[in-house]
Amino acid sequence: MPAMPTYRIAPSLLSADFARLGDEVRGVIAAGADWIHFDVMDNHYVPNLTIGPLVAQAIKPHCRRADGTPVPLDVHLMVQPVDALASAFARAGADLVSFHPEASAHVDRTLQLIRAEGCRAGLVFNPATPLDVLDWVIDKVDLVLVMSVNPGFGGQSFIDRALRKVEQARRLIDASGRDIRLEVDGGIKVDNIRRVADAGADTFVAGSAIFGQPDYKAVIDAMRAELG
Ligand code: DX5
Ligand code: ZN
Repeated sequence: MPAMPTYRIAPSLLSADFARLGDEVRGVIAAGADWIHFDVMDNHYVPNLTIGPLVAQAIKPHCRRADGTPVPLDVHLMVQPVDALASAFARAGADLVSFHPEASAHVDRTLQLIRAEGCRAGLVFNPATPLDVLDWVIDKVDLVLVMSVNPGFGGQSFIDRALRKVEQARRLIDASGRDIRLEVDGGIKVDNIRRVADAGADTFVAGSAIFGQPDYKAVIDAMRAELG
């Protein structure tokens, strides 16, 4: 029987109030966030434009608990090309940097670059992207991120077929014997988080579900209660 996973809840700042981002980061950490998920969109790889390394650098000092413990900054790059921005975010204080394999001409090289910058490296799989590339680079991956919406916007509905991909990713990760987190992003709410965990995920991104409610702690507590 595998050990019970240590679940992580990663609120996505995409649905936060961008006019008060530092307050939002502190508020969601006080409410129990484990990671801060930071969505980077370039209006090229995805049809939306968000925030860059200067904003990551500005919020980094806020990414800690009241006792000083750092809260990992989980940067999700939806950009093409990847490498220069991956380095820029690493230098801005990212702890994890994830990218979409379609967006890099040399996936193995980009993974090495992120790790050489001192970050954990992640690969992100769109709803229609198979996990095949993992067969060749899993030794350089610290995070697998399965998209359960098409990237670009918050507040979309969860795509159920992503659960099969999460199951498949769980099998590949377990077979590798490596310490790799399995994160799911898009449409996660209190009422479906348990199904996502049952499929094998251990890390849950949630934007609109958390920032769309006045009481962040109530939502995060309810998610944890579902996770058991
Ligand atoms: C979508 C982003 C997500 C988004 C999730 O491209 O990668 O992180 O913020 O938002 P919700 O939880 O509202 O689907
Ligand atoms: Zn994301």
